[in-house]
Amino acid sequence: MTLLELTDVTAFYGPVQVLDGVSLSVPEAGAVGILGANGAGKTTTLRAISGAIRAGGSIRFDGRDIRGMRPDQVAGIGIAHVPEGRGTLGDLTVRENLRVGAYTRKDRKGIAADIDYCLELFPQLEERIRSNASALSGGEQQMLAVARAFMARPRLLLLDEASLGLAPSTAKNVYASIQRLRVESGISMLVVEQNANLAFTLVDSATVLETGRSVLTGPTAELKGMDAIRRAYLGG
Ligand SMILES: Nc1ncnc2c1ncn2[C@@H]1O[C@H](COP(=O)(O)OP(=O)(O)OP(=O)(O)O)[C@@H](O)[C@H]1O
Ligand SMILES: [Mg+2]
Repeated sequence: MTLLELTDVTAFYGPVQVLDGVSLSVPEAGAVGILGANGAGKTTTLRAISGAIRAGGSIRFDGRDIRGMRPDQVAGIGIAHVPEGRGTLGDLTVRENLRVGAYTRKDRKGIAADIDYCLELFPQLEERIRSNASALSGGEQQMLAVARAFMARPRLLLLDEASLGLAPSTAKNVYASIQRLRVESGISMLVVEQNANLAFTLVDSATVLETGRSVLTGPTAELKGMDAIRRAYLGG
């Protein structure tokens, strides 16, 4: 079943059109990538979904039109956004950040179990549980941002450049944990990533954006085999 479906989505910043026909779909329990050069509109696409900017076209989640909803409403129906630049609360500790992620939940036992699960998934966070988020390394902050989003128990996770600024080995670790989270939780994911090699370790299919428009969509295995994709995104 399709969980999220974008059809001909458009968006503007002031008078400037930056999305001009983005179409993609994320199946239930699936993970889909968005590839594209700097400025192609990847972040804007996620912001259109999460209600941070107004969009045209159609955005449907679980069969329902969500275009025009406010960010808190979009979060409330089960879409969690891990923005570019991470979005953790620097003045709060790791544990407090995880609790804030669960603020709409009432199941205290479930929240405690999910915090334990996050710390097992990202053992570095357990060592830093009482540290302020602002004192964490870039990799640790990225782990916390993902864990915090998971604490809301979303049905769909929007991930924006989770590897940005991380050493290659750290980025690989973060992606391996996200992959484990995906398998164990069944959460669907829409994954923006400049590093296509990393994205392809996580996603089943991907859409390529060029200047605000979807130009190509296919299963990961097929995209990996295409010369144009290899040259543009895979370093050869
Ligand atoms: N707040 C803003 N105001 C005006 N223009 C913006 C704003 N944010 C982004 N843009 C422009 O919109 C276009 C799409 O930007 P977007 O951030 O979606 O690209 P991106 O694909 O995420 O790029 P990157 O890989 O660099 O993160 C770019 O031309 C960018 O300069
Ligand atoms: Mg971006």
